[in-house]
Amino acid sequence: MTLSSIKKIALKVVCFLFASIYLISFNLHANDAQMKSLINDITKMYMSSMVYVFKSQPIINDKNIDKKELLGKRFIDNIKQTYLAKYNEEFPKEDHFVKTVLLQAMVEVMDDNKALLYDDEIGFKGIIPATFAFQLSAKLSTKGVGLKIKFTRTAGQIRNKLNRPDSWESSVMKKIQNNPKIYYDENALLNGRPAIRQFTPLPMAHYCLACHGIPDNNPLNAGKKRSEWTNIDITGFEMENWTIDDFGGGVSISIEKSVLE
Ligand code: HEC
Repeated sequence: MTLSSIKKIALKVVCFLFASIYLISFNLHANDAQMKSLINDITKMYMSSMVYVFKSQPIINDKNIDKKELLGKRFIDNIKQTYLAKYNEEFPKEDHFVKTVLLQAMVEVMDDNKALLYDDEIGFKGIIPATFAFQLSAKLSTKGVGLKIKFTRTAGQIRNKLNRPDSWESSVMKKIQNNPKIYYDENALLNGRPAIRQFTPLPMAHYCLACHGIPDNNPLNAGKKRSEWTNIDITGFEMENWTIDDFGGGVSISIEKSVLE
């Protein structure tokens, strides 16, 4: 073999290697984009369900009325409407089984609450966005599909100990607390396995303070003498004395990468 033909072969090998590296990295990026879009869809579907539960407090708590808007396919249709109104775009297609499982879990959670919903002895049912979120997380954890959703806040003032942040969530909240914005991490871990994770902060609003604020904000104290005031909110938890300038916590979503392949 002449020197020049060796050079030609070497050149071809190098070109082939570069082309392969380019193609592999292109593929990885396509994958990154798909992962990011999946976690975004999941976040928005979840947020819409919380908004719908918030808006439905009258249907949830009223006695002697039908509750079918909160059950089965009707419930999902209402969440889809809420999504459309909130984001001004069509509800995501069920093009990944994780989305289908999420919708199923939402229906199952409301189904588990059916007896409570129709119980005409109980006025305030306590099915608020935070409890719905918690029940949904618990439901998803039984599905074993590598999707985890959690409603959490900085450690120290957590109502439900099961919502306590893990180390990834704590470090993300530290970073964004003073300037809340969505934080996406495509190289994180969940239960020691590679995962994509996203934290979406919830904006603090005045109505949050009815439960998480100071006793002055507690509607249960309205019209009562200060000496009769309580610092227990309508859901039975001690109020945390948050103010409107405090960090409102947020939604933490993780999907194991094995699910994405
Ligand atoms: C009707 C009372 C009520 C209102 C209003 C309310 N929350 Fe909560 N919140 C709760 C309860 C009860 C829990 C615990 C739910 C559970 O069992 O996991 C909770 C839990 C949370 C958590 C999870 C961490 C924890 O402490 O367990 C965050 C974060 C949170 N709320 C933020 C907010 C924000 C932000 C708003 C307003 C946008 C809000 N809440 C409005 C009652 C309320």
